[in-house]
Amino acid sequence: MSAAAERRALPPDFDAGVADAALSGLMASPKTLPPKLFYDENGCRLFEAITQAPEYYPTRTERALLGAVAAEAVADVAPGSALVEYGASDEGKAMFLLDATDAFSAYVPIDIAAQGLASIVARLTRARPGLALHPVAADFLSPFTLPAAVAQAPRFGFFPGSTIGNLEPRRARSFLADARRLLGADARFLVGVDLRKDPAILVPAYDDAQGVTAAFNLNLLHRLNREAQADFDPDGFFHRALWNAQQSRIEMHLVSKRAQTVYVSGRRIVFAKGETIHSENSYKYAPEDFLSLAESAGWRGCNLWTDSARLFSLHLLRA
Ligand code: TRP
Repeated sequence: MSAAAERRALPPDFDAGVADAALSGLMASPKTLPPKLFYDENGCRLFEAITQAPEYYPTRTERALLGAVAAEAVADVAPGSALVEYGASDEGKAMFLLDATDAFSAYVPIDIAAQGLASIVARLTRARPGLALHPVAADFLSPFTLPAAVAQAPRFGFFPGSTIGNLEPRRARSFLADARRLLGADARFLVGVDLRKDPAILVPAYDDAQGVTAAFNLNLLHRLNREAQADFDPDGFFHRALWNAQQSRIEMHLVSKRAQTVYVSGRRIVFAKGETIHSENSYKYAPEDFLSLAESAGWRGCNLWTDSARLFSLHLLRA
């Protein structure tokens, strides 16, 4: 191949959608990348590893809390109800609810990763032969409809993992209002929300000593090199997690170690030394702040549980 042809040749994994999503953020000021780009195969693996890092308390705290309160949370679920889970990468957390009552006759896991949904269905078909399974492969932040099979059933929504915290509060409110419409008149909605707390606990959770979260963040650059025809030097950036008290959020950034120029899909992106790519937010809510957000989206508080160390909260809302 001539040098010119080589420059024109696209890498085998080139994905115009990934390139467009990346470029709109990288050409803005300040620079950002959309969090959905985290979750390629390697990113999903690294995220799974984050949830097991000693500093990352949310996953184990929420699971323990679910184990303790599931029976109470589902106590008044009507028989024949459907459990609708937003962002079901696996059924592990839903199992606490399914095991706590016989009232659920259907499970509707919604996730963007069709592969993960297939595994959920395979496992639950064996473990719960009586449970109707209606997976929905969709981005739950975009409009979608529930399977016709559960259109008439009362619905219990479940949104664990403090994923709600990854949305800007205004976006979180519109998401909650959409869920209120989708789940219907008699719905309940159980939402896992990470609590606002001492930054000495928060920051290490997003910057663990083993460097798993750093690898997860830097994986964005490796992915863009493969899929967006980019030439990032991943060693030219480092991971930073910081607490923004005013906005009540953890921010994740990739910091440029030096002045450098990068090409992404033929576009020139210039970095000053110390300039960052802002890649994720994780908002933290005091219980009353989340409750007023939910109320402004048409929900009413029904119950609230926190662990004894007040790390994490589960809000049970009703329509
Ligand atoms: N929603 C969780 C949180 O904010 C999980 C998560 C989303 C996350 N993106 C992340 C964790 C990036 C670590 C890094 O904690």
